[in-house]
Parts: sequence; structure tokens; C-alpha cells
Amino acid sequence: MFQVKKELDLTAEHEGLVIGLFDKPEKFSGHLANLDESFNGQLTELVKSGDISAKLKSISKVHSLEKIGAKRIWFVGLGKEKELSFDKLREAFGKLFKEVKGSKLTQAAIYLDSFVTDELDALDAAHALSEACELATYQFEGYRQKSNEPEKRLESLTVYSASDEEEGVKASLTVGYAFGKGTNSARTLVNTPGNMLTANDLANYAAELGAKYDFEVEILDKADIEKLGMGAFLAVNQGSAEPPKMIVLKYQGKEEWKDVIGLVGKGITFDTGGYSIKTKAGIVGMKTDMGGAAAVLGAMEIIGEIKPEQNVVAVIPSTDNMISGGAFKPDDVITSMSGKTIEVLNTDAEGRLVLADAVTYAKHHGAGYLVDVATLTGGVITALGLHTTGAMTNYEPLYEQVLEASMEAGEQMWQLPLFESEKERVRNSAVADLNNSPGREGHAIVAGAFIGEFAEGTPWVHLDIAGTATASKAHDLGPAGATGAMVRTLALFVERFEPIEK
Ligand code: BES
Ligand code: ZN
Ligand code: ZN
Repeated sequence: MFQVKKELDLTAEHEGLVIGLFDKPEKFSGHLANLDESFNGQLTELVKSGDISAKLKSISKVHSLEKIGAKRIWFVGLGKEKELSFDKLREAFGKLFKEVKGSKLTQAAIYLDSFVTDELDALDAAHALSEACELATYQFEGYRQKSNEPEKRLESLTVYSASDEEEGVKASLTVGYAFGKGTNSARTLVNTPGNMLTANDLANYAAELGAKYDFEVEILDKADIEKLGMGAFLAVNQGSAEPPKMIVLKYQGKEEWKDVIGLVGKGITFDTGGYSIKTKAGIVGMKTDMGGAAAVLGAMEIIGEIKPEQNVVAVIPSTDNMISGGAFKPDDVITSMSGKTIEVLNTDAEGRLVLADAVTYAKHHGAGYLVDVATLTGGVITALGLHTTGAMTNYEPLYEQVLEASMEAGEQMWQLPLFESEKERVRNSAVADLNNSPGREGHAIVAGAFIGEFAEGTPWVHLDIAGTATASKAHDLGPAGATGAMVRTLALFVERFEPIEK
């Protein structure tokens, strides 16, 4: 897809040439002055008249009328140079690639140096470029008789970069591409309907991923899960015609199996709510209840590509949450793998039940640090809206590393508190150690607090992506539907992870 070349060649033939434009260019300088000259100074005039805009994220297309080798030029507005962040640059590229996709070109070139600032070097720009290219042009194929695949798509992009670090630019393009691709894989899993993605299908997908990247793969079937005493996970599966799967992938990037990061993802392939059944409106869209599992698998794909010097165990409990004569019910008391007993007050609070056993199992595999990701509660949407992932932790230094990664990935998150008062509410049952639904007040928080009971003393961060796993409308970095939330945050977190001295 990407070819790197050193010197910008204005005579080279391209279907399109992309140029970054900062606010208030008094006049073009360097290569851009040569370009303007080829147009007898008319580009400067077009900037002055506003026909070419330097406003952040505006895209202006100019036909070159054969004055240069490229047929057309796209100017990408970048706003004020000092104010351009990595995030904004990635979004600007996203808008560009959406335009390019619409124009059905197969080949283009970009003058990368025109996107470089004092803060963002060619390597940053290269990463933002390739990541945005993947993310912005993502499309879920769907199942129509007539394919909606575009007949033409961009196949080749020549990247002009005079940077001394030519290998670095190439590597950044590859890494950005891997981040985009891993995110898109997660999007496809989330967009796939429940009848086409059962726990067994998800397990097969994970096994294939594991084979591709040489991960150790362990898929527990129902008998294994019973043997291990995962009563909380089994209860959720009880009403289903589909057997449950506990999916485990291990990536060892260090000599020794120590400082292990456990990534735990909720893999409910469809959530009816069980006997605490959802409403007609509330049940639609519940194929996305495996968004946490998808985030973990997307991150594992990136980890397989970039091979960081870290140890990771991914644990995904997968089942649907259905109704039948054998399904679990409110008032049932179940025993988790940890030994803790749970009074079920609401069968729709199933995510925390499957995660309870998955967190315990991740610790059995040696995880010393835990991050769980789940489309866990409608409560997080009430609290934080649809654009912010809710986070909780029992250990601030670990949360700081996750937060740092999220900022770099451009994924918003905000911490919710974990006070004793809410832990008490989870521990309040007349018949068991815990209850799974202490009421709607602050229910994103008590859901997190419940999982925390199983993390116990292990440093742990909980990420509730019920609001962020899907988007109701298209955005700069993708279409409406699954977003692949937290894929890039998790991968960056793993890549940069530093064990914490306690
Ligand atoms: N899967 C849902 C949470 C959800 C809601 C995800 C909306 C995506 C969009 C979860 O299992 C659930 O049903 N949670 C309940 C918890 C309640 C019963 C305490 C909720 O949030 O209403
Ligand atoms: Zn539910
Ligand atoms: Zn659910």
C-alpha cells in the first residue's frame, strides 16, 4: 500500500497529490513555493480567496489542469501549526481518506513533510496517516445479495518524506496500519449478528488468531468449565442452546512468565437479559455485548504484529444470555470459581458474573495486573454519555498507565470512584457473600465494584464501554456501528507497560 520516496517530484504522475496546509501561510515556501510557481502563483490566490482552506480538517480539491504530474491536489487544512495535536492530525487524515474513498481513486501520493511540526515529526505523521487510512475507510460488508464493496479502492499511496529516518517512517506506517487493522477486526466481530457469531465461532476466531501469531491457545469447553467450578459463568449459559467457551490466548514476549498483564473481555454474543428480560427496544443491538471480547482480540492482533517485550494473557468468557426452562433465575444462589457465593437479583446483570470467573481464571494463569473491558452497564451511558469510556480501579498507578495510553490513542475515558460504601452494597445479601444487582443508583459503579471483589488484591482497571463500543452516526475515523473502542488503548498500554514496584 505505502511506498516511501525521499524527494517530492512534482512532475511524477499521480492520480492525486495530498498536501497539508497550516493556517495563515503568508506565502508558500520550499517545495510548496515550486508548486505555486507551477500554477503561476494562483494557489496563493486561491488560499487568499478561501477556495483552498487551511481551517483544521477542511479538505479542498484543486484540479491541476496538467500544470504538474498529479491530476489533482487535495489540500488538508491543519489549522494553527502550534495547536495541531496527534489526535487532530489523525482525524484530519480520516476526513481526507473518506473523501479519497468517495472519489474512487486507486493511486495517490502524499507530501508527508507538509504535515510535520515542531511537536509532531515524520514518524508521528506516518503513524497517524496509515492508522487513519485503515480506520476511516472501514466498511462492514453485511449480507445483502448485492455487494456494497466499492469497485475501486485506494491501492497505492506514495509517501514523500525527506526525513533522515527513512526506515523509521516505513516502520511507523506499518505500525499505524496494524493499529488500524486490529481495530477494524474488532469492529467486524461486533457488527456480526449473534446467529453468525456464537461462543463457538468466537473461540474458532481466537484459535485462528493464535495460530497466525503463535500464541498459546486454550479453549475450555463446558466440561472443563464445570470441572474448574466456574459456577457464575455457567449460570449465565444455563438457558442457552449454545455451549459456553472460555477462551485463553497467551503471548510471551519476555524470557520468563512474570509481570503478566491479564486482559479480560466480556464475550456475551447476545444479551436478552434472561428472565429479567429486556424491553422490545432495549434488546435490539445486544449482538454488540461482546465488545469487550472484540477489544481484547483486536489488541491481541496488534500485539501479534508489533511483538512487544511483554507478557499477556487474554481471557474471554463467551456465551449468550438466553431464556429456557433451564435458565438461571432471580433469587438463585450460585458459586463462583473463587468460592464466593452470589445471590442473583437480576439475570440481566450477567456481564459481571461471567467476568467474575474470568478474572479469577486470569489470576490462575499468573496475571499480576488486570484490565477488564466490557459493555457492562446502561448506567455508564447515563453517567458519561456515548463518547467516554468509564473506568474504575483498585490501584491508581496502573490506572495512570491505562489513562496515558488512552490519551495517546485518542480514546476518551473518565474515572468513576470506588468507595467502601458501594463495595458494601455489593456485599449486602441475606443468603450469599455478594449480590449481583444492588439497585439502579450508580449502577455503573456497583457493577465495577462487583468485579473488583474478584480482582481482590491484584492491581486492576475496569473499563465500561457500553456507550463507546458503537457509534450512532459516522465520524472522522469510521462509519456508524461498531467503533473498536479500546483496541488501540489496550495495545498501546501493553506496548508501553512498566511493572509497578509495590
Ligand atoms: N449488556 C448490558 C449493558 C448494555 C446496555 C450494553 C446498553 C450496551 C448498551 C448489560 O448486561 C445490562 O443489561 N446491564 C444492566 C444492569 C442492570 C440490570 C443492573 C443495565 O445496564 O441496565
Ligand atoms: Zn444484561
Ligand atoms: Zn450484557
